[in-house]
Amino acid sequence: AMHIFYGKVALIAYLKTIKTANSTIGFVPTMGALHQGHLALMQRSLKENDDTVVSIFVNPTQFNNPEDLEKYPRTLEEDVRKMRAISDKMILYAPSVDDIYEGQTISQPFDFDGLENQMEGKFRPGHFNGVGTIVKRLFEIVSPTNAYFGEKDFQQLQIVKKLVEKNNLPVHIVGCPIFREENQLAMSSRNERLTPEERKEAAIIYKTLTEAKEVFSTKGPQETIEFVENSFKDNKRFNLEYFVIADESTLLPIEHKINDRKYRAFIAVFVNSIRLIDTISLN
Ligand code: PAJ
Repeated sequence: AMHIFYGKVALIAYLKTIKTANSTIGFVPTMGALHQGHLALMQRSLKENDDTVVSIFVNPTQFNNPEDLEKYPRTLEEDVRKMRAISDKMILYAPSVDDIYEGQTISQPFDFDGLENQMEGKFRPGHFNGVGTIVKRLFEIVSPTNAYFGEKDFQQLQIVKKLVEKNNLPVHIVGCPIFREENQLAMSSRNERLTPEERKEAAIIYKTLTEAKEVFSTKGPQETIEFVENSFKDNKRFNLEYFVIADESTLLPIEHKINDRKYRAFIAVFVNSIRLIDTISLN
């Protein structure tokens, strides 16, 4: 049967009873409103570990926009059903804000060697301090062997790897491919807030990324950026917030191509007040 915990004390006590000398714990942190992207991370963890812990917690300290926090979907019952459908062997941790923050809902400042200053960090001030704070806290509570993160939030994945490296945390971070809807829109809990029409037309985001990859294969970063900006220029529905081509490891925007570096394109688009992100490897 699935074990559900709402408090860390009971969770920690339970994990102690199941842990043996060589057993492994896989961990999938989420904010709920689960979709197939989340479930794919869980499948991977179930396959690679003796036990799998999933957390569902809408972390207030990583939301720079109060409306986004307030409107973030909270669907715990439905989430539990979806988890049960793939396995009845998972452990769910669904804490309250107080169980995590103990009356002080603030984030700790982090130095991620500049990774935090690009893209999402630029447009969502404080976001990665909130992510660092919650992920570190959850790692302390769960003590996982392996933790699973999606490439959908590629900057977050790199930042979590940096958090682990800088703090010598005893956990292995596993990056997992982006799960997409039928029209190739990257799955996201925020997609639920789109109208059916917006959701259909949001295919333009990944379509533009694949076209940009084509352009980048023969031209430079500047021409590729212009191509993408032009693709959104006359679009009334989708407003481009940023399109960046960056070095995969430093996340610094590139001025020109250097051989044997890995590059990645990153995009953020607004549909009304709903913000969607996506990314693609360029080489
Ligand atoms: P959330 O947005 O719920 O995502 C939880 C995990 O699922 C993240 O690692 C994210 O990258 C991954 N994910 C989301 N959509 C995906 C998709 N379409 N394909 C593959 N993986 C996908 O990211 C967070 O929550 C939070 O910041 C969190 C790490 C839980 C800290 O609060």
